[in-house]
Amino acid sequence: MSHQSVFKDEAKLDINYVPHRLPHRGKEHRLLMEFFNFLLRFPERMTQRVIITGDVGTGKTALAQRFGADITVKANKQGINFRYVHINCREYRGKLFLILQHALAVFRPTFPRRGYSAEELLRTLVQVLDEEKAYIILTLDEFDAFIEQEGSEAVYKLTRLQEMRSGKPQRISLISILRDLKSTESLGASARSTLQRNLISLERYQKDQLTDILNDRVAMAFEPSTVQEEVVDLISELAVSESGNARFAIELLWRAGKYADAGDMDDVTPECVRKAVSSIIPTVRRSELASLGLHEKLFLLGVARFFKESQSAYASLSEVERAYAVVCEEFGEQPRSHTQLWKYAQLLSALGILKTEVATKAKRGRSTCVSLPSIPAYELEKELSAAVKRR
Ligand SMILES: Nc1ncnc2c1ncn2[C@@H]1O[C@H](COP(=O)(O)OP(=O)(O)OP(=O)(O)O)[C@@H](O)[C@H]1O
Ligand SMILES: [Mg+2]
Repeated sequence: MSHQSVFKDEAKLDINYVPHRLPHRGKEHRLLMEFFNFLLRFPERMTQRVIITGDVGTGKTALAQRFGADITVKANKQGINFRYVHINCREYRGKLFLILQHALAVFRPTFPRRGYSAEELLRTLVQVLDEEKAYIILTLDEFDAFIEQEGSEAVYKLTRLQEMRSGKPQRISLISILRDLKSTESLGASARSTLQRNLISLERYQKDQLTDILNDRVAMAFEPSTVQEEVVDLISELAVSESGNARFAIELLWRAGKYADAGDMDDVTPECVRKAVSSIIPTVRRSELASLGLHEKLFLLGVARFFKESQSAYASLSEVERAYAVVCEEFGEQPRSHTQLWKYAQLLSALGILKTEVATKAKRGRSTCVSLPSIPAYELEKELSAAVKRR
């Protein structure tokens, strides 16, 4: 009989999946609704321009798509012919005519792909919207690709669209998404000022926010009690050091689940997370291990063995000390003092091999706890015991 998977619905961890609720982006979602509120009441009267900025994985794309889906439902309920069109500029090499072709295809799937300039396509799009009495929010994601490719003039053209048809119903609102405003600096002052009407900037996620995001996904994607709290905690911690990137966090969670399945395990362990990390970011360089002194190696070997055996993500210093003592015995070495070990832990933490922190939840009734965030314990132990034996 085949082993059961830890996953209940893996698709909920897909990078393109947009959840119904975005924890910690409620405020920004409401702000977007407010910016576009008029659209639900007097759609023909005005249009809006909004910029969303934020670092990698701060939820810019997800927020825009969630908002787009939500406002579409509202507008359609009120009998407004409204569409949300989300376009990734990079996918279309930043080219305006390709972007417009795609937008037009939403309404006219059979419109010929060749032989039209950007201007003609823009005119046709507006014409089609007029014919259908339709309104759109056009979201230009990875807008920097567009700026790079097309420069000020095209941006200006796009953003001043409405002024050029004063007196007629307003049809096209814009949301532009970029990581930061630096790339808009290349634009002329007028293009920039028409663009920067309303700015929503998304802050990097903090650890507890990532934990909430992950917990939601765990509930959706995994079988009950296959992912322990400590595992989520470890992943959040790792994603914080990757600049609070939620994509990184979700990808780690997914990969860790894959490693659990591959190992026929009943649940996702911290070791699965470490394997997942090392499959994404390079593991510790061998030369770094080689440069360690004998007792530093023995200490680290103790840590590796502890985590190889243990299901928990954190160890107290005394647990690690005991593991080190066993290793010393095995190799016929006299263990070093407690103070010395504490120094080793600090050193290894400075090298990025271990992580030490003062436990806030009094996890093991000890103040300092140690974790091995990114190197699989089995790899580290293999590497180190070989090195110590070679000595
Ligand atoms: N608040 C949130 N709640 C739930 N999932 C989130 C949240 N924020 C981000 N995510 C998820 O994290 C992943 C990355 O988010 P998203 O793609 O929106 O980031 P981004 O800011 O567009 O990054 P990039 O600059 O690389 O395009 C997506 O899978 C998204 O669904
Ligand atoms: Mg994005």
